[in-house]
Amino acid sequence: MRASMPDTPRLILVAVAWPYANSPLHMGQVAGAYLPADIFARYHRMRGDRVLMVSGSDSHGTPVTVRAEAEGTTPEAVFQRFHRTFLETFEGMGISFDLFTTTDTPNHHAVTQDMFLRLREQGFIYEAEQTLLFDPKAGRFLPDRYVEGTCPFCGDPGARGDQCDNCGRTMDALELKDPRSRLSDATPEPRQSTHFFLKLSAFNERLREWVEPQAHWRPAVKNFTLGMLREGLHDRAITRDLTWGIPIPLPGYDDKRIYVWFEAVIGYLSAAKEWSSIQGTPEAWRDWWENPEARGYYFQGKDNVPFHTLIWPAMLMGYGGLNLPYDVPANQYVTMSGSKASSSRNWAVWMPDYVSRHDPDPLRYVLTAIMPETSDSDFTWAEYVRRNNDELVARWGNLVNRVLTMTRRNFEDRVPEPPATLAPESQAMLAAVDAAFADVGGHIEAVQLRSALGAAMGVAQLANRYLDERAPWVAVRSDREHAAETLYVAINVVSGLATLLQPFLPFTSREAWAFCGNAGDIQAAGWARSTVAAGTPLPEPHPLYKKLDDALVDDEESRLGR
Ligand code: MF3
Ligand code: ZN
Repeated sequence: MRASMPDTPRLILVAVAWPYANSPLHMGQVAGAYLPADIFARYHRMRGDRVLMVSGSDSHGTPVTVRAEAEGTTPEAVFQRFHRTFLETFEGMGISFDLFTTTDTPNHHAVTQDMFLRLREQGFIYEAEQTLLFDPKAGRFLPDRYVEGTCPFCGDPGARGDQCDNCGRTMDALELKDPRSRLSDATPEPRQSTHFFLKLSAFNERLREWVEPQAHWRPAVKNFTLGMLREGLHDRAITRDLTWGIPIPLPGYDDKRIYVWFEAVIGYLSAAKEWSSIQGTPEAWRDWWENPEARGYYFQGKDNVPFHTLIWPAMLMGYGGLNLPYDVPANQYVTMSGSKASSSRNWAVWMPDYVSRHDPDPLRYVLTAIMPETSDSDFTWAEYVRRNNDELVARWGNLVNRVLTMTRRNFEDRVPEPPATLAPESQAMLAAVDAAFADVGGHIEAVQLRSALGAAMGVAQLANRYLDERAPWVAVRSDREHAAETLYVAINVVSGLATLLQPFLPFTSREAWAFCGNAGDIQAAGWARSTVAAGTPLPEPHPLYKKLDDALVDDEESRLGR
């Protein structure tokens, strides 16, 4: 059966958080944004939709300059180095960007400066004197991230000048209680400096009218956003006293730069333009940005929600003519063995390490199974091993292996001929795998990836039950035709399951699909079971997954926190 294809391909922009290029990626970021975005993009590509998946290294901002200062090197050297590690991680984990660029390209500078000037022309950016924190010991104005103190909203003592990680609220560094300079530990003092401001207050009503009817948004995302709108948006400074970043396109501001958050979100647009130029179709980006039917999905961790549900939409409203986000399916956090991930305590699984020691699909599987879609979830290596062994190996990998080796051994390496009429349980089995395409697809389209994976794995469980009940390993000696039917059906179920699992497990699904005798590219075969005909030659399969030893748990845990 062919799952029904949409009449015209849909236009899907998969916009993924731009990671600060000041450290390698850790597992939490992969679970929070990169993996869900990739699953979503792969699925839509298989459906025949036109997907554009973009992001890039956030190369500006104080996270990068702080690291450069600590290492005695330049911000360029820092961001280039981590940009390379990001590309390696995406390659190793199968994160299939159409373009992963950086914010340091001439294109991104130009698109940012155009947006700045247009918003200013429209009256949404204005200049004003600002009181800023000045470090008297270091003799310079302090960027937000260089100030720490107590959160004015929740009282958390570890808030930074831009945002509180405890309650997620964004703020102005001046609102922090008991501020300290991270440069000198001095108590900073307020001083005047001239800056540009984004007139967010002008968008409060329009944003509320836009957010309220978004019935498909995750409740946490929507409620948080509406809460901020109820409190009322304040205008925010979008320039800083810095020399690393995008210059202000007006004379007389040489020692100031555009604020990293104002320009990073513009990356979604500039990357689409860059991709179009690279393709040799420089106007192609308009399809995703100007066609009102196109949908933009912004994959983020929860700390980024206000930038994507309020600030970026306000910028787009002010600019005019470009699509607002369709959804911001932000995830909560993945904790590590019960504690929040932390770079300073090295309490994290660093992706370059993971990729150097392990296979990508088991981690993709486990992170999808525990994906923090509605609340925080915890990763442990013990659960990684358990799910790998009980679910990937025992439920899915062994199914593939046992069906194909049994068939090859007993039916001359070919798919056996089924009887003219299939038994009711065989028909029901094929109907279940075919029906799963709409079910799994529906969950993916709603960005409920845990449920989507669960639905696909449920079919694997049905297939194991079907095999156990019909016991082809016994029947093959007494009733060859019965065994032929079972194995014919089972191979077709494996073929369908390989496609159903492809968005989640791209490396091993491709193999499972080829083991069924399918030729060509699984991704191009589309979102439907590739029917395997009787007589198809079957190549020699090999196990898709390794059974993992419990010793792995101790080994990996001993690396945490050291
Ligand atoms: N670099 C920032 C972060 O990692 C911002 C990412 S998202 C975007 O939190 F808005 F900048 F695109
Ligand atoms: Zn707080």
